[in-house]
Amino acid sequence: MKGDIIRGHTENIILSILKEKDMYGYQILEMISNKTNHELELKKITLYKTLERMEKNELIEQTLKVDKTTNGGKRKYYKITSKGLDLLKQNIYNWNNTKEIISYLISDLDYVVFDKNLISYDEVKSTNDIAKELIKEGIPEGTIIVAKSQTKGRGRLNRHWIDEKGKNILMSIIVYPKTSLSSFSKITQVAAASVFSALSEFELNVKIKWPNDVLVNNKKISGILVETSVDNDCVNYAIVGIGINVNMDVRDTEISNIATSIFNETNKEIDNDKVLKKVIEKFNYYYNEFLKGNDLALSVCRENSHIIGKLIKLEINNDIYKVRVKDIADDGKLVVQNPNGTIEYLSLNEVSLHSNY
Ligand code: BTN
Repeated sequence: MKGDIIRGHTENIILSILKEKDMYGYQILEMISNKTNHELELKKITLYKTLERMEKNELIEQTLKVDKTTNGGKRKYYKITSKGLDLLKQNIYNWNNTKEIISYLISDLDYVVFDKNLISYDEVKSTNDIAKELIKEGIPEGTIIVAKSQTKGRGRLNRHWIDEKGKNILMSIIVYPKTSLSSFSKITQVAAASVFSALSEFELNVKIKWPNDVLVNNKKISGILVETSVDNDCVNYAIVGIGINVNMDVRDTEISNIATSIFNETNKEIDNDKVLKKVIEKFNYYYNEFLKGNDLALSVCRENSHIIGKLIKLEINNDIYKVRVKDIADDGKLVVQNPNGTIEYLSLNEVSLHSNY
């Protein structure tokens, strides 16, 4: 599986370097830069995390050596073990293949590139879960996980997300936004605006239903599930899970009343990758605008909202309320007016729109 190849890729690079010569951390870093002709600085933290993991797995070990620069002092060199050598023999490794994946090790940029590190799987439980695992290994921002099918695809409020193998887009985008929790909803807006803009290019009449649904002709064509890890009110990472029904015929499924697909709307099969490429291109744009402080995604969500101006039903703690939607506030909250005229600001954690709104 390509995902596994990429995961082991950094380890292979390091093993192939250490096979030639024992080296200390910084030398390994320099060597990778030289071999790949990469002008960008390598991300040290990722390298050291990888070295630590490899040592634990007994693929490499540390040895104390004197070198010229330490003036007789000893420094820790990494050395390949026999287990490491065995592993290297099993993996046919070619430096020419590195370009696509070397971003695994490059340092933080002030912008994020989203099409350099795409990892695809045949079948997974959930692409969001795979993303979570890869984050633990230090995968860089901008990595995208895609799968042909999911056995446990999930949506908001733990709802099941269904798919038909190879027919839809199931993807998770990894970002490290370093923003406060209060701007977390912006990431959902970035995703919604990206899906909206991408699908609009396929001549569909697309609308965004706050907070995380994209509709065509009143039926859901795409759902977004953003999962984050937060420390001291700062978002460490966000996994932006996006499902888009592309070629699935939903008419014979349990979701036929509420869902649709590009195929169902156009009667034409379409190349999944073409749609995926568009979504990534748009996400690249809206996310980087968000990093620059431009709220373009919010404007797209407002201008193409399915619910602004309408009377809707809200479900809060199992109670149903009827309110009129006035706007989406700058912080992403839904601005609604109660029947008695009072205005309320609702966050997406508090409410769900009743399916029969
Ligand atoms: C929703 O509508 O509630 C959100 C649905 C999100 C589905 C996508 S498919 C790819 C990613 N992996 C998951 O398990 N869920 C998201």
